[in-house]
Amino acid sequence: MSSTLRSLSTSRKSVRSQPFGPVLDWNLENSQLEGRNDQAQFRLTIYQPGIVRVQISRFEQFHSNPYSVVAQPSAPEFSLVEHEHSLEIHTPLLQIKVNLESFQLGFFTTEGTLLNEDDPLSVSWIGSEVTCYKQVQKNEKFVGLGEKTGNLDRSGKAYTHWNTDYFAYGVGDDPLYMSIPFYIGTHDNGAYGIFLDNTHKSVFNFGASTNRFVYFSAEDGDLDYYFIYQSDIKGIIQSYTELTGRMQLPPKWALGFQQCRYSYYPDSEVYAVAQGFRDKKMPADVIYLDIHHMEAYKVFTFDGVKFSDPKSMIAALKAKGFKVVVIMDPGIKTEKGYLPYDEGLEKDLFVKYPDGKTYEAQVWPGWCAFPDFTLEETRKWWAEKMAFYTEAGVDGFWTDMNEPASWGQFTPNLIEFAFEGRTTSHREARNVYGMQMARSAQEGSLFQNPAKRPFVLTRSGFAGIQRYAAAWTGDNVASEEHMMAGIRLVNSLGMSGVSFAGYDVGGFAGEATQSLFARWMSIGAFSPFYRAHSMINSNDAEPWAFGEETEEISRNYMKLRYRLLPTIYSKFYLSSKTGLPLAESLAVQFAQDEKIFHSAFQNQYLFCDSFLVAPVESNKEITKVLLPQGDWYYLYSDKQHLGEQTIYQDCPLNYLPVYVQGGSVFAMQSQIEHSGEAHDGVLELHVYHGSSGSNYFHYEDEGEGYAYQNGEYFSRTISFDPGKGKLTFSSAEGTFPSEFKRLRVFFHGFKSTSVELSGEQHSLQKKNYAFLSRLTEFDPLPEHHHPYFEIKQLPYLELDHLSDSFEITGLT
Ligand code: GLC
Repeated sequence: MSSTLRSLSTSRKSVRSQPFGPVLDWNLENSQLEGRNDQAQFRLTIYQPGIVRVQISRFEQFHSNPYSVVAQPSAPEFSLVEHEHSLEIHTPLLQIKVNLESFQLGFFTTEGTLLNEDDPLSVSWIGSEVTCYKQVQKNEKFVGLGEKTGNLDRSGKAYTHWNTDYFAYGVGDDPLYMSIPFYIGTHDNGAYGIFLDNTHKSVFNFGASTNRFVYFSAEDGDLDYYFIYQSDIKGIIQSYTELTGRMQLPPKWALGFQQCRYSYYPDSEVYAVAQGFRDKKMPADVIYLDIHHMEAYKVFTFDGVKFSDPKSMIAALKAKGFKVVVIMDPGIKTEKGYLPYDEGLEKDLFVKYPDGKTYEAQVWPGWCAFPDFTLEETRKWWAEKMAFYTEAGVDGFWTDMNEPASWGQFTPNLIEFAFEGRTTSHREARNVYGMQMARSAQEGSLFQNPAKRPFVLTRSGFAGIQRYAAAWTGDNVASEEHMMAGIRLVNSLGMSGVSFAGYDVGGFAGEATQSLFARWMSIGAFSPFYRAHSMINSNDAEPWAFGEETEEISRNYMKLRYRLLPTIYSKFYLSSKTGLPLAESLAVQFAQDEKIFHSAFQNQYLFCDSFLVAPVESNKEITKVLLPQGDWYYLYSDKQHLGEQTIYQDCPLNYLPVYVQGGSVFAMQSQIEHSGEAHDGVLELHVYHGSSGSNYFHYEDEGEGYAYQNGEYFSRTISFDPGKGKLTFSSAEGTFPSEFKRLRVFFHGFKSTSVELSGEQHSLQKKNYAFLSRLTEFDPLPEHHHPYFEIKQLPYLELDHLSDSFEITGLT
């Protein structure tokens, strides 16, 4: 009796918060400072001059996530200064102070400016849950955190990382499908990033129900986080993606417009929809096969009646320039005689209960077993099975329901996963399950077609998912507020390493109004991933299904997207090298400007560097736009505005507010119907006068395959220097001959009537130029007419596209 009481009282004591407490012993070895006391140990690893890994553990061995970080420590130089009660580490970028009494950590710049510091409560445990409490700096804002709803500045809200299937989520709901426990803090003295590398359910509280601190905690495992410092937020994102990896260059077709539906069937309908795009002269590259392509929703099957000859159907779609992307859900129907189930059982590839019985839950096919994607053998098996699709001609893969989702929306925590050889429970494995499925899909695509770049789209993921797949924001709703919320989700994903992201244009659940659909299609043209999708039992939702006006507006923006492909593809290439977003929240460059966080402006972003997109609901006629520092041109008319002001902008449905940054350069091509179709061979360059210049990096390759990795690409930098009035083309690199034989350079905002090229004076030609076509006036009353913008008498120069370096001078 008394011993039971004793153990009860011990456990009662342990549910109080237990601080790390004073460090009793420490030592420094290589790039690691380690220390401990009776109950816990810590290790600080100087990963890079600006990256410190902090591990704090109550286990005998430190406990790591094997899935997210791919970079090794670079063993940078640093020094250690010992004080009586503290230690100081100096790297070329950071000072880290360790208080040996309270175990508070402080991070400072080399000049001693405070970036981030623990609250005196420092680090503590409640049961297995570990938490780190941080002080809030003056004017501190918190951005990023991946696929999280809410405001750009996350202050005052708390978020949970626990991958969740959430049909028709509300725009403030949490958690959703994907977890990326990485945020950026930005305040008066600088910015830093914190990545909590723990896959258990974690919570980030940026001041909900407390004014004392912000904190992050994990349900179990170590407190294992990376502190990242660089002089600007771009540098922080670059460092984070150096740690967790970057998007691989996708095939060019994946940048085109993609049409989805739950579901198009039978094959004749798929074919008719694809044909619809060609008939309607709406450019598109991809059509999706959602779950009705299967026999009774069983993965690796085709419904023999609805899709009697998938190979021929896909070949016919290809002949029209369409790629087919097929859905793959993880659940395998537990049906004897169904090969994937029999094989999975036989090879022991499914997730199990601790007693060895297969875990089963219900999804679309009914009761299912779940492949354990945290086991390499399972990933390989799945990759082999994908021959079923690639042999039919499928080009891309959509990994859905991979949270994993199941009816009941709850998974018992005791089920077990291999976790690369150190078996663990659902508590630790859930958040990486979807990412490992996406990885398997990418590996499968490569295994089946080694010469093709994979395209995988995933719903679930974790930090590092960008290495394997593009992401979309799941089952949104056809509403104005969802359209705006989706933009923030994508911008947040962009700050969290996931450059290739998008939302269901038009809204998955519910019915979009005509105007909503038109506006969503316009904004989507400026999203990295551009796909329309909608749910079963809803009205038709192809871009021509909403009446003529919506059709024409959609067509205009789809065409603009395709004309911009040279720029978009070049930026995708850069993003695959740097990890920087394609849709860049204003917080990335302008976090010191308080106004960017206001609700009216927090959705604004830069797309492909040059374009400032100011998204606005479809039911507004006028909107307020924040123009950050710089000079800005209204895309459609070239009307100029100074930066650092807010303006009122008319926003008729056929013109999404978009501005071009003064001094920037971007490239366009002639209209095509799909990314594989030949253009006219003329590369249009648009150069904008401005107070500062820019470097446009132009990149081309064959759009598919890996020859580019052996030098088969064409790239050059086109730099505009307004001070010198000069546009410089660096000599081209790579062995791929540019597809563009001619250049047509348009000069926006310049006074020059002639320029000098290779020592010769050339008069500029002029023509009226429109980025969008005029809408048909369906209504005869003039007050209902649509505005139409064109840039009058825009000066331009046409020349051969030479590979050697050359200059155009005399630009004023
Ligand atoms: C999920 C997906 C959705 C898909 C549907 C049917 O709800 O998020 O995109 O269409 O399943 O497969």
